[in-house]
Amino acid sequence: MSEFLENLRNDHQDFDSGNLLDYFPENPLELFELWFKDALEHKEPETNALVLSTVDSNTLKPSSRVVYLKELIQGEFIFYTNYLSQKGKELAVNSNACMLFFWPGQQRQIRIEGTVSIIDGSISDTYFASRPRESQIGAWSSFQSEKLTERKELEDRFIENSESFIGEISRPSHWGGYALKPNLIEFWQGRPSRLHDRIVYESNKTNWTIYRKNP
Ligand SMILES: Cc1cc2nc3c(=O)[nH]c(=O)nc-3n(C[C@H](O)[C@H](O)[C@H](O)COP(=O)(O)O)c2cc1C
Repeated sequence: MSEFLENLRNDHQDFDSGNLLDYFPENPLELFELWFKDALEHKEPETNALVLSTVDSNTLKPSSRVVYLKELIQGEFIFYTNYLSQKGKELAVNSNACMLFFWPGQQRQIRIEGTVSIIDGSISDTYFASRPRESQIGAWSSFQSEKLTERKELEDRFIENSESFIGEISRPSHWGGYALKPNLIEFWQGRPSRLHDRIVYESNKTNWTIYRKNP
């Protein structure tokens, strides 16, 4: 393993990006949307995948996992999950969370810190209804983050549910969306000689303060 990592380090190219970070709108959401569009245009794989980190308030241990950004509503970042999952339980007690987007082809990273709240049930209902039937049954069948004795247990539950659900499937109350309201957004752009750009937007209630950070 160390051999592979060593080779990676040797092969690692300097960031040669021509994407200079030289446009700073007053609102970071504008820059986020611009970068997101760039990432889509450059066919970054899984453009809307982000790493979500939460913290267990008892142990103070952080944990991270990938989720999909599904919507941006009034400047808040929406994702969907199981409210009883590990992240759900952690967020119920400590609403502070951090999102991270990484678009390697663009040599860009965006860190978004903020507080998370459960979104209006009607928005989750609409999204749940738009999902494929198998995903809807999956949401009913998986007790996300709970220990599973064997895979068959999950598959049997899926088959049972597939047979018992008739017609439209309603959203389970333990599944739905969260909105992260950002209070800090950092845009990172790779530049040569490790002299990367880091532009931080910090919210001070009425507007955003913008500053640079050492790379
Ligand atoms: C590309 C990708 C996208 C994912 N999207 C979601 C998602 O939108 N919602 C979700 O609950 N889990 C998603 N997952 C699974 C999570 O990473 C994670 O395993 C799951 O939510 C359980 O997390 P937890 O036990 O830390 O709460 C995704 C995983 C990958 C690799």
